Parts: sequence; C-alpha cells; structure tokens
Amino acid sequence: MKNEKLKVVGICGSLRNISYTRFSVSIALDAAEKMGAEIKLIDLRDYNLPFIEQFEEEDQPMDLKKYRDEVASADAIILGTPEYHGGYTGVIKNAIDLLSRNVFENKTVGLIGIAGGSLGASNSLNGLRQVTRHLHAWTVPQHVSVPSASSKFDNDGNIKDENIEKRLIEVGETVYKHALLLRNI
Ligand SMILES: Cc1cc2nc3c(=O)[nH]c(=O)nc-3n(C[C@H](O)[C@H](O)[C@H](O)COP(=O)(O)O)c2cc1C
Repeated sequence: MKNEKLKVVGICGSLRNISYTRFSVSIALDAAEKMGAEIKLIDLRDYNLPFIEQFEEEDQPMDLKKYRDEVASADAIILGTPEYHGGYTGVIKNAIDLLSRNVFENKTVGLIGIAGGSLGASNSLNGLRQVTRHLHAWTVPQHVSVPSASSKFDNDGNIKDENIEKRLIEVGETVYKHALLLRNI
C-alpha cells in the first residue's frame, strides 16, 4: 500500500461547459500529478447523480456507486466551487452530501473557489472549510480564491494570471505532500 501512488481526485462544482472552476481544479490536479500522484478529475456532467435521498446499497443508481467508489478510493480530495449568491454551489454541496462522512474522515482536502465578481470566493471557501471540518477532513490552509474569473482564463482553459496559477499549483502540491504525511503516520 505504502508504495502505491497517492490518488488525488478533484470534484468540480460547476456543470457549465466552459467552467473556470474545472480549469482551476485541473491545474491543481496536474501539480499533484507532477509530484507523483495518480489523479482524476470528477466532472459531474459525466455522472447522472440524483439529489440526496436514502438509497439502499443495492438500489443505488450505477452512476452514484461509480462516483462514490471513485472518491472513496482517493487519498486526497480537491473541491472546486463557483461562488453563487454569496456561497458555494448546490452542485458541490449535493456532491458532498452524497458521500458518507467516512469518505472524508482523515483525508486531505484542498479548496478552490471561483467568482465572477471582484470580491472573490471567500464565502464559498470559508463555507466549505466549515463543512469539511465537520466531516473531520484535514483541509490544508492554502486555498485559492479566483476573482473576476472570466479575465483570468481563455476559453481553452489557459490561465493568464501567473500569481493565481502559482497558488493553484501550491494547492495541488500541498495536498499531495500532506496526504503523503498522513499515509506515513
Ligand atoms: C446563480 C449564480 C449566482 C452567482 N453569484 C455570484 C456571486 O455571488 N458572486 C460572484 O462573484 N459571482 C457570482 N456568480 C458568477 C460565478 O461565480 C461565475 O460565473 C463563475 O465563473 C462560475 O464558475 P464556472 O465558470 O466554473 O461555472 C454567480 C453566477 C450564477 C450563475
């Protein structure tokens, strides 16, 4: 087990086709991959997930099982969310609510928040920090708020702001290093 690559998954809390959140989470994941991780971007458009309700194990939709298995098999999770009406999106919250607490417990988490406006995504980030604390995850202190997101990327996902790129990379690297520390405890 200890010799296996660490697995880092990123969950994008936007379903838009051109999503700055998806671009940002990808940059952090790529940085974790460069450190040695196996990575997987969970693009929720690829999963036909229900809103949270009670499912018996054997009755759960196939996509839900696939989604739960993907996240459960990860050593670390990067959550990315747009700021919607002053908080994180319903999409990311439902994606979290569909997972049991032990999927997060004692795992490393990194946070990325994307905002259309100049004030950034601090509300989303602080909100997700509160949620992941409740789930007993180890959420790294480095997080990234991307303000005025449409000016920071082109439509192909190329980032135009060097400082934000550095911070996204830092989140990916820190998540990797912290997950490695936890594995070796
Ligand atoms: C319903 C809704 C609410 C939004 N509320 C805010 C907001 O409170 N503050 C803000 O800066 N941007 C807000 N935005 C803009 C989004 O944060 C912005 O479009 C962001 O790029 C979306 O992320 P995405 O590109 O990954 O889809 C809102 C957008 C929508 C659709």
